[in-house]
Amino acid sequence: MIAIASDHGGFKLKGAIIKFLAENGYEYKDFGTNSTESCDYADFAKAVALSVKSGECEKGILVCGTGIGMSLAANKVKGIRAALCGDYFSAKYTRLHNDSNIICLGERVTGEGLALELVDVFLKTEFEGGRHALRIEKIAKMEQQDL
Ligand code: RB5
Repeated sequence: MIAIASDHGGFKLKGAIIKFLAENGYEYKDFGTNSTESCDYADFAKAVALSVKSGECEKGILVCGTGIGMSLAANKVKGIRAALCGDYFSAKYTRLHNDSNIICLGERVTGEGLALELVDVFLKTEFEGGRHALRIEKIAKMEQQDL
């Protein structure tokens, strides 16, 4: 199951991504927003991040105007590794090396065609593990410290 949400700034791209998910056989859960009425990205980032953290959803997709607000907010949830991606290499390698569990996209920055390619490679690519797992453990340890 893939969790997806946007704020008003990412609403149109969220619709295109949902169409892509449905056409490609992915099950998804849409956490909103449901219109272009102004809203707060943190509420939607939190909902998707908690769904991924709990295991209800395997991965998440968050869209706002830049993708930045969503990534800042989602990364406040322990166990979440949310990556803002605007290029193919980053979307692929954040899975291979960072085991990112949420991809963040900016509707006002990244065109729809590229955004769908980024989602596609993000969802298809497996984590490499090995030395990269040790690095992720260090991030997890940081979450337990009062930094
Ligand atoms: C909303 O205007 C915009 O600030 C939001 O979508 C996002 O870009 C924030 O990071």
